[in-house]
Amino acid sequence: MRMRPINPGSGKSRNRAVAGFLACVAASAMIAPGHADEAQPFRLCADPTNLPFSSDNPSRPGFYVEIGRALAQALGQPIAYDWYKSYFGKRTVRVTLLGKQCDAMIGLPRSEDFMGPAMIFSSTFAREGYALVAAKGHAIGGFDDLKGKRVAVQYASTPQNLLATRDDIQKVTVLSPEEGMQALDQGKADVAFIWGPVAGWLNMTTYNDRYQIRLTEGEGLSWDAAIGFAKGSTELRDRVDAILPQLQRTIADLAVKYGLPAGQPVRLGAAPAAPAGTTTGAGPGASVMQVANAVATEIKGDAAAPNAEAVSAGKEIFNGTCAHCHGPDAVQSERKIDLRLLHHRYGDDMRDTFWKTVHEGRPARGMPPWKEVFTDGQLDSIYSFLLTVQVESND
Ligand code: HEC
Repeated sequence: MRMRPINPGSGKSRNRAVAGFLACVAASAMIAPGHADEAQPFRLCADPTNLPFSSDNPSRPGFYVEIGRALAQALGQPIAYDWYKSYFGKRTVRVTLLGKQCDAMIGLPRSEDFMGPAMIFSSTFAREGYALVAAKGHAIGGFDDLKGKRVAVQYASTPQNLLATRDDIQKVTVLSPEEGMQALDQGKADVAFIWGPVAGWLNMTTYNDRYQIRLTEGEGLSWDAAIGFAKGSTELRDRVDAILPQLQRTIADLAVKYGLPAGQPVRLGAAPAAPAGTTTGAGPGASVMQVANAVATEIKGDAAAPNAEAVSAGKEIFNGTCAHCHGPDAVQSERKIDLRLLHHRYGDDMRDTFWKTVHEGRPARGMPPWKEVFTDGQLDSIYSFLLTVQVESND
């Protein structure tokens, strides 16, 4: 799963949505014969290229898409898909679900703080999060088992933060869960502490089920996955909630089919005390923000995981175009336009601010708009590059 050039909201993705819709309407005529007149389609938003969760390939549609089918059937409604790339995390939810392009989105973190009061959720149908991955037979029951081991962690992920201050554990930084699995495979790491669904999927499809995978729990490590609706949809939400218990068995079978980590999660302690001046660990809000953040960047596993190709492509564009004002490699002593401070400045809103600013520009203040110049894929690679140069201060 590499970075793919994308252009959400472009004519192309709309055409795809229409194609998906037509295909589904044809299929749905068979699902609910006789109800075609009254039955409105149950419209779901999903990413067409996000296995193990969703795909527009009917022969391997993914965990969420199959849950959606089962739900639609139980509701007696035909199903319709709005395919939409989910690179942009919360932004995707805002544009698709809250933009009324669909009725529901499967697989969002069940947290009031994810999108604020604009959203409501079904009950939980699965648990998702980071997992410990190692060859079968190795103990991976907690921190003690990681002592003296080389542990692959993804750049800028919760596991990386969690292990940052542990001198007794050697970290191997990777840029994606795929790379974490490769590090194991190539003997560069003993354990990978990476996003569970992608680890499980790759273990099943690429590594012959060679590894054991244990879901973890602890602050920012895993969360309840639910179905999200816009806040006005309580009636539909209640109908879905009434059906979910009957689908428990189906959902459990689907989790196995798509290789999702199962079994009792390993409990890992809270992150060590944060350095002075940061707000990590400040009350219950902190973990929720982390979850929302994890989903914003990892809603599709490889979402914003800056992979090496994207980072170098982004760096090249940056140095060719943005560096005139923002400095070569983003090194810029003038604070106001030092893009290495984006995270420091905006925290969880970094991604949204980046997108808004590069799309629209701030023409009155000397920042041109770029949406006519670069594709969203190119801008996303610039973002990946910028992620790798963030600092807390430019002194
Ligand atoms: C002609 C000069 C110029 C070029 C070229 C330019 N920018 Fe900017 N950019 C600015 C200025 C000036 C600001 C600060 C605007 C302000 O004061 O709010 C800015 C602000 C930004 C910000 C917001 C920073 C913040 O902290 O709020 C981002 C993100 C950004 N630029 C990204 C880019 C990217 C990516 C490129 C290349 C595709 C680029 N810029 C090219 C002049 C430029």
